[in-house]
Amino acid sequence: MFGKSKKILALDIGSSEIKALEVQDTGAGIALTGFASAKIGNQNETIYAIKEIIKKVNFKVKRCVTAVSGRSVIVRYVTMAQMPLEDLRQAIRFEADKYIPFDVDEVVMDTQILEDNVGDAGSPEMKVLLVAVRKSLIEEHLALLADAGLQPHIIDVDAFALGNAFEVRARGQGGLAPEKVVALIDIGSNKTNINILKGGVSYFTREVYLAGNDFTEAVSRKFNLDTQEAERLKCDPGGQATEVEEAILPTLDDLGNEIQLSFDYFENQFDRVVEEVYISGGSARLPGLQRAFEGAFEKSVVFWNPLEGVEIKGNVDARVVSQYAGQLAVGVGLASRVRRW
Ligand SMILES: Nc1ncnc2c1ncn2[C@@H]1O[C@H](COP(=O)(O)OP(=O)(O)OP(=O)(O)O)[C@@H](O)[C@H]1O
Ligand SMILES: [Mg+2]
Repeated sequence: MFGKSKKILALDIGSSEIKALEVQDTGAGIALTGFASAKIGNQNETIYAIKEIIKKVNFKVKRCVTAVSGRSVIVRYVTMAQMPLEDLRQAIRFEADKYIPFDVDEVVMDTQILEDNVGDAGSPEMKVLLVAVRKSLIEEHLALLADAGLQPHIIDVDAFALGNAFEVRARGQGGLAPEKVVALIDIGSNKTNINILKGGVSYFTREVYLAGNDFTEAVSRKFNLDTQEAERLKCDPGGQATEVEEAILPTLDDLGNEIQLSFDYFENQFDRVVEEVYISGGSARLPGLQRAFEGAFEKSVVFWNPLEGVEIKGNVDARVVSQYAGQLAVGVGLASRVRRW
């Protein structure tokens, strides 16, 4: 009865920074009991960085939740005739080649019924989520975790983890409004993740391969610096803030336009408008981003704190994690799996 409460390690293996959150199910919610992060210069350093993190914080928990992302992860929202889940799983396998660009034997698939509705012709339909991940990516990922001495508990997808993090925050505020449409945008180093939710259910996700690295490249070009120097100047422009903002503005506009295209698609498909935009990820700190996005979307852009609904335990340095909070959306979403809500 008084046994140790369950803990997991949520590991967000970003392409430039690894974020590790050791969390516990408190019964009422989740608590952060350990935290570490590490920057990585290139993909080859990933395993060393993970091992380093585990050693540094002396994480004892081996059960971990991680996520995959990128071009080997296909997410589709499909409308089908209503049927039970077991039948759906069969049907989807037969029809998979209509939706995914890989051979059905090359992928691991999962499906979920999102909601039932009535089609234009009055026929009963359902909205189905289909996720397919290339086996080669899963195998690579599992090998990485095994090398780090970790036991995979769940392998999630970045965009869905982002949605789950938002739900953790909403729970602390009395829940999500059932009809409210919000867009979550996580701007990392390699990609920008978009997840549009209606009443907490994901209706659209997309990865745009335009993010931090592209801003660094813009700074590098403008100031004639190598990548490392440009990265430093981008993150800490000091007296050159105006020039840095100028250098990145065209890339910011491109990203804003890409995101707007996703909003347009969603709004055409579902006849609903995106009401609020929530930004996270390390590149959310870019100077001028809020102004550029508010101009592009003509709606308010909120920088939210993914740790808002998470209890911080005594041995975690609250000051350090709160400064880093904006980068922890995916990590908190992975951590939320410690609980059955
Ligand atoms: N102060 C800052 N100003 C601008 N950019 C910043 C700042 N701090 C961090 N970044 C950028 O944030 C990015 C890292 O953010 P994050 O940890 O969200 O990415 P990631 O998860 O590693 O990448 P991805 O999700 O694309 O795999 C880097 O590109 C970094 O340059
Ligand atoms: Mg990331």
